[in-house]
Amino acid sequence: MMEKTLVVFLVVVQAVCQVPLTTSPPPTLSTSVTSTPTTAAPTDRLIKIGAFNIQSFGKTKYGRLDVRDYLVQIVTQYDAIMIQEIKDVSETMIYKFLADCQLHRNFSMVLSARLGRSRYREQYALFYDHDKLTVNKYAEYPDPQDIFHREPLIVHLMEKTKGKELTLMGVHTDPDDVPEELGEMENAYNWAVGQGYPTNALMMGDFNADCNYFKASEYSSVSLATNSSFTWLIDGSADTTVSDRTDCAYDRFVSTGTGLFSNTTVDRFDLTFHLNVSQAKRISDHYPIRTIWVA
Ligand SMILES: *[C@@H]1O[C@H](CO)[C@@H](O)[C@H](O)[C@H]1NC(C)=O
Ligand SMILES: *[C@@H]1O[C@H](CO)[C@@H](O)[C@H](O)[C@H]1NC(C)=O
Ligand SMILES: *[C@@H]1O[C@H](CO)[C@@H](O)[C@H](O)[C@H]1NC(C)=O
Ligand SMILES: *[C@@H]1O[C@H](CO)[C@@H](O)[C@H](O)[C@H]1NC(C)=O
Repeated sequence: MMEKTLVVFLVVVQAVCQVPLTTSPPPTLSTSVTSTPTTAAPTDRLIKIGAFNIQSFGKTKYGRLDVRDYLVQIVTQYDAIMIQEIKDVSETMIYKFLADCQLHRNFSMVLSARLGRSRYREQYALFYDHDKLTVNKYAEYPDPQDIFHREPLIVHLMEKTKGKELTLMGVHTDPDDVPEELGEMENAYNWAVGQGYPTNALMMGDFNADCNYFKASEYSSVSLATNSSFTWLIDGSADTTVSDRTDCAYDRFVSTGTGLFSNTTVDRFDLTFHLNVSQAKRISDHYPIRTIWVA
């Protein structure tokens, strides 16, 4: 009874907050319509892909046992998930997290270097289920003009039953340079294709692509937003932030090529676990985003 009341309360809060705060249209002319032939494909070819900025993810956060338990439950729902904002200097916490997830799923990991321009650096980690998926190769974008603070992590993923392939490109943009960094994503994609990565690609992560960091007036300067080869699967009306005082679609998926993606959504773990805002914020200030690759 208590739990039901809380869920209703949260849904109402969300609905009320969205009305006055939603200001940004999707930064693209292309539609986010994707095919949904989910009934045609066997379930082992429905690959649940996510991107999750686990705010300031280090030993302190992972030391909180309740948070650890929720993080394991959230992340192990996915077949492949791009984890961002790993800041642990000792580079040990992420292996502990992987080991804890491996109690539930046969996860493997692709881990980037610690990336950044100052002493503050972050790593990306892709956790993926090696029963379903193979990683053929991966790279950090060489970024010849040094546009990115944290160069995208590019992964050549292959689904095992049919051998369908996909390039994943994870990025956490710097809030101060969003148009520049998103503008470079097309070059990063073309670089990857030149290196033999699959042309079907899914860009993903905390793009900071909304509110004060990416304004409607800036869309026209960014090919990722204007070129119809790129499809934004999460539109500007989404809210990927946990706070009830913000309504920003920071976290995005952008697809290109002929890959099919369906059921794209914001993963409201607060509703799943019946958490209020302050409890949810202990986990992150972002929700994960989720899509299903119909491989
Ligand atoms: C992990 O892989 C092993 C061997 O393929 C399999 O027997 C086991 O069920 C898998 N574990 C999980 C949690 O999926
Ligand atoms: C859109 O992007 C693709 C991939 O980079 C490129 O091949 C194509 O020329 C671009 N189209 C336009 C109109 O710029
Ligand atoms: C996708 O959404 C539809 C409609 O809500 C649902 O019936 C279907 O089970 C979902 N597919 C997956 C793979 O979750
Ligand atoms: C959230 O729930 C916790 C645990 O039940 C409670 O201590 C806290 O006061 C609640 N916070 C808010 C803002 O409702």
